[in-house]
Amino acid sequence: MRVQKILPLFIVSLALTACGGSSGGGSKSSSSKAISSSSKAVSSVSTISSTATVSSASSVCGAAAPLSSSLASESSGSSSSSAPVVITADMTSGWYGNGAGNTGVLYTADGVTFTDLANDRGAVFDVPKGTLLEKATIELVVNASSDFISSGGNLQFVAQVIGTGEAEWGCWIPNGSIGDATDTTLTCKILENGNLNQTLNDTKIGIQVKPGANPLAGTITIKSAKITLAPPQSSSSYSSYNACVDSLKDLADFPIGIAVSNTDSPADNILTNVKEQAIAEKHFSQMTAGNIMKMSYLHPRNDTGTLNDYEFANADAFVAYAKSKNISIHAHTLFWHADYQVPDFMKNFAGTPQEFLAVVDTHVTTLVDHFEESGNVDSWDVVNEALTDGNPSDYRTNSPFYVKSGNSPIFIERAFIAADAADPVVNLYYNDYNIENNDSKTDKMVEMVTDFKARNIPIDGVGFQMHVCLRWPSISAISAAMKKVADLGLKVKITELDVAVNQPYCDSYPANKISEFTPAIAFEQKKRYCDIIAAYKTVVPEAQRGGVTVWGTRDGSSWLDNLYSSEYEGEKISWPLLFDAQYGDKPALRGFADALSDVTCTTNP
Ligand code: XIL
Repeated sequence: MRVQKILPLFIVSLALTACGGSSGGGSKSSSSKAISSSSKAVSSVSTISSTATVSSASSVCGAAAPLSSSLASESSGSSSSSAPVVITADMTSGWYGNGAGNTGVLYTADGVTFTDLANDRGAVFDVPKGTLLEKATIELVVNASSDFISSGGNLQFVAQVIGTGEAEWGCWIPNGSIGDATDTTLTCKILENGNLNQTLNDTKIGIQVKPGANPLAGTITIKSAKITLAPPQSSSSYSSYNACVDSLKDLADFPIGIAVSNTDSPADNILTNVKEQAIAEKHFSQMTAGNIMKMSYLHPRNDTGTLNDYEFANADAFVAYAKSKNISIHAHTLFWHADYQVPDFMKNFAGTPQEFLAVVDTHVTTLVDHFEESGNVDSWDVVNEALTDGNPSDYRTNSPFYVKSGNSPIFIERAFIAADAADPVVNLYYNDYNIENNDSKTDKMVEMVTDFKARNIPIDGVGFQMHVCLRWPSISAISAAMKKVADLGLKVKITELDVAVNQPYCDSYPANKISEFTPAIAFEQKKRYCDIIAAYKTVVPEAQRGGVTVWGTRDGSSWLDNLYSSEYEGEKISWPLLFDAQYGDKPALRGFADALSDVTCTTNP
């Protein structure tokens, strides 16, 4: 197996100064007849479209005193402290009847009334397209007549992008919550799917009726209607922070890696996005493909039993780009059970376990052989996530690989043996998440790799994915878990590091939801990154350091924001990475560098 390669340094051709630029924005004005909103209020709806670049220079480092105040103002200017924008409906015009064949609405001294009470009929007004209504709160003051209440009628909010099926139908107001001929304030937050396309068409907002057991009777009067828009999302906005890190990789004698996209995420494509390239080339000595070296991308079919079953072009281009920049590759991954990553031929395999293991051998041999030729693939995650999170943890028995192996974990060692045979030099890792918590899953992993070592199954190390939270697990747990592997003489690699500010499975989310990426949070994250890297250096002897890879470049494009989009209600609030959404430095970058430089970890700016 390969002795750790130290790649020669290369000249960074694109100067990347860390101090980002500013934010800007346009304004929206309302044109709908039904809406009377002052231009002043509406202008603050402007989206925060930062034009921050990575090229403006600053000589002020993050630790300089004035910067903390600049961070504070940047942060507060972009989020919750701006006054909420309220749209108030005109109650004398612009309303119309909702539902096919609706007989319409009447304007009275009290407001807008309707008496057409067939299912789904009601009264609505239009909010012009482009007004971002996602997470807005609609507030209607409604008066339902006594005969409506006694006929068992219910109400439901309407928020529907006209001409589309995209709608918020969730806010249901049961009969018992509606006052009997008294004014009732009804509220509804627009949340459906987290992604109504309000740029496409105007959105109609209002209320409709839902009958109970009896035909409905009576009159509904809407006395007022207002919509409070959600504040613009405060994505990480640290474009004015300068971590003053010339190059992370130059501070380490082990690989410093970054996960990047290629065709799987065209906007972030490392082959075409010059900002991605600038970050990767400046700071990182290793790269991992976030997706395109997984099984379904490389080995989608098994029709012919020849190389025609494989798709190497995208991965080859990615590996070649890295090579041209003197960047090594940590390849990920030969086996991962995640459903969408398993090609149908594997899922549907109908042969015997022996026949399946022959397919395992061919898969591994073909991939490892192929990438050995590139010369810059240092390591493979041979098997990813084969263990469960339970207590006690065990092999993942519902993995198709486990099942097709004859309900056995034998495919794991077969894969290691085949990979070693194909390339005796490349480093071979078992990779998993939640093994840094030092609990039952850690112990199961240690039991497995101890057994592998005892039986001379060729394994070089363990990859700790390290998708951790801001405040959990503890550094002592992380250290103890890594030490168990280091004590076996195996390499320890942190393969997918990110530090989520919000994470539904820890830090008591959503009770302790962090809605804004404030300077205090940014500097807490800085210390957290520093503590993790410092623990790694303390626990893992130099010769066993496989390196540290961060799972993504910039906030706003993290996989966590997609994975937890419903828990985050569509907001991008994981803020887990070293760079902000505009590729500006975050304090986390300074924290990482501090640990590499043996500087004490602090929350200091
Ligand atoms: C993630 C990618 O980042 C996403 O783009 C994709 O949609 C899902 O997979 N653990 C792993 C990685 O081992 O392969 C996962 O990558 C993140 C969790």
